[in-house]
Amino acid sequence: MGYKVAVIGATGNVGREMLNILAEREFPADEVFAIASRKSMGVEVSYGDKRLKCRDLEQFDFRGVDFALMSAGSAVSKEWSPKIGAQGCVVIDNSSCWRYDPDVPLIVPEVNADAVVGFTKKNIVANPNCSTAQLVVVLKPLHDQAKIKRVVVATYQSVSGAGKEAMDELWSQTKGKYVPGQEYAPKKFPKEIAFNCIPHVDVFMEDGYTREEWKMVAETKKILDPRIKLTATCVRVPVFVGHSEAVNVEFEKPITAEEARQILREAPGCLVIDKHEPGGYITPMEAAGEDATYISRIREDGTVENGLAMWIVSDNLRKGAALNAVQIAEVLINRKLLRKAA
Ligand SMILES: NC(=O)c1ccc[n+]([C@@H]2O[C@H](COP(=O)([O-])OP(=O)(O)OC[C@H]3O[C@@H](n4cnc5c(N)ncnc54)[C@H](OP(=O)(O)O)[C@@H]3O)[C@@H](O)[C@H]2O)c1
Repeated sequence: MGYKVAVIGATGNVGREMLNILAEREFPADEVFAIASRKSMGVEVSYGDKRLKCRDLEQFDFRGVDFALMSAGSAVSKEWSPKIGAQGCVVIDNSSCWRYDPDVPLIVPEVNADAVVGFTKKNIVANPNCSTAQLVVVLKPLHDQAKIKRVVVATYQSVSGAGKEAMDELWSQTKGKYVPGQEYAPKKFPKEIAFNCIPHVDVFMEDGYTREEWKMVAETKKILDPRIKLTATCVRVPVFVGHSEAVNVEFEKPITAEEARQILREAPGCLVIDKHEPGGYITPMEAAGEDATYISRIREDGTVENGLAMWIVSDNLRKGAALNAVQIAEVLINRKLLRKAA
């Protein structure tokens, strides 16, 4: 017998990708429910070759549902995840609402799948921020080999990471540059995003960092190792899908670029594309729609002892959100950790 799965936020960027991934991976679902806000009731979304009609979250009965794959933002998750979890349905949440709660495991299956057992306290598992997910997939095998001391990362984050309205804004502003009378003032972003870069993702904090930068620090510590020091600069760029990261890592033990390449070639979820020639590296456009996290430009950083520099790219809607959530559900099933809903 298969599982009953509810996708909450089914009309959004992440929710639609969740439905694609459930179908692509032939997730053992008997029934899949598409759920969004009241205004989307009846809106149709694709699940494989089927069309599902969206239901209203407020009216949906979660009894008998095994998984709620949630991507409807923090406020919705804060209110609904505990209620859904209390009905025996495991919530796998994409928002930042539960990530730092000590009673909620924060999981990237390639990195810390064992920690998922902690989900029983609240019946909630958290999915990390998109920039963190792709980073830790790459850092984990290198950390196992040479122990990471410090990471410096600059992100180049696509607009899809800010939701469907943000994608529309990039599209409209780009058109507006060429079509007279179609100028489009910034709404979702604080400055124009078309043909521009904005060094500001999420809100500012007291110390001058943004919350997106803070999330990368806190989540890397929780998922991988609390002793790792990390500093980040998060930048929004005019790319539709795919986050890129320029990363410098300082290790305790020596590690060469060739050793890192070999380790990453065998690491789960990683794909190395690293030829020292024009085009011998990955760009976000090529990573969009793919499951892997790609690593290019791996080289030794001689400015520190035991340093490496690299370029990491992944589809933020897949590994950064929807794929990781479905992988978590698969871990719960494969490890027989789920009590089947009545
Ligand atoms: N995009 C990424 O790369 C990424 C990565 C990691 C995590 N996340 C997180 O995932 C979540 C969703 O992101 P997204 O990019 O998919 O956003 P999005 O495209 O703006 O979609 C938001 C979804 O939430 C639904 N929703 C909003 N309010 C609701 C309510 N009161 N009740 C039920 N459903 C409601 C929307 O339904 P309606 O259409 O009916 O309003 C829509 O389906 C956010 O928490 C985000 O931080 C995103």
